[in-house]
Amino acid sequence: MADNTQSSQTERRVPRHVVIIMDGNGRWAKKRLMPRVAGHRAGVDSVRRTVQHCAKLGVEALTLFAFSSENWRRPEKEVGLLMELFMTALKKETRKLKENGVRLRVIGDRSRFSEKLRKQMDEAEAYTADSQGLNLVIAANYGGRWDIAQAAQQVASLVEQGKLTASDVTEDVLAQHMCMADLPEPDLLIRTSGEQRISNFLLWQCAYSEFYFTDTMWPDFDEAALDAAFEYYATRERRFGRTGEQLEQVQSA
Ligand code: IPE
Ligand code: IPE
Ligand code: MG
Repeated sequence: MADNTQSSQTERRVPRHVVIIMDGNGRWAKKRLMPRVAGHRAGVDSVRRTVQHCAKLGVEALTLFAFSSENWRRPEKEVGLLMELFMTALKKETRKLKENGVRLRVIGDRSRFSEKLRKQMDEAEAYTADSQGLNLVIAANYGGRWDIAQAAQQVASLVEQGKLTASDVTEDVLAQHMCMADLPEPDLLIRTSGEQRISNFLLWQCAYSEFYFTDTMWPDFDEAALDAAFEYYATRERRFGRTGEQLEQVQSA
């Protein structure tokens, strides 16, 4: 994972990598006496808006939490509808993503998805692979603990093959096997709907992210809401363990 600790990062106004826990679709629908799935549908519009706005503002990577490894615990019907929505969105939006220079990737354990959905994911990734603009990452059946475990498995396999010894297993080696190792670490984590928890999202990658919580429900999240999050981010002093005085010295040098 790229080093985010350079002083230039403290001066950046627009985060390089934004990650979002898109929460509140169900409550948004309930308030309107609509079924939960109506909230998820409205949530897709927010995704489209957010992707476009991030691309326009020059964000390098946007990671969206679409389905957690714990969301299988929801009623079967809701899970099924979410899978359908996912499939439709991939089919409908991929061409436009490519036209807008967006490169798509999906992170998470795909083995539990249907073969059809897995194929659609592969195709969307391949189709947008050459795009040079925004990196859009969809976290689907993703869990932060799963991510750490899959990285550990890969590293253990290298040890088994004699390519590494136990003492070679450092933070850096593990980091290289985590999802999104090639992207900058998340600068800003946004969670909508008023909840203030991480819900097993990017546990490893968010070690030094700034956290922004808003009461806005995900279907209501629009360009102005994203601008507000970025304004908050711009006011943060990112210290990465150093003192505020040290950062002032670097900035005035
Ligand atoms: C987020 O909205 C979408 C997913 C988790 C798939 P929710 O469905 O969690 O909405 P609330 O939290 O019930 O309002
Ligand atoms: C987290 O939201 C997962 C996604 C946004 C996809 P949840 O609504 O599932 O989280 P909890 O269960 O309230 O923590
Ligand atoms: Mg929720």
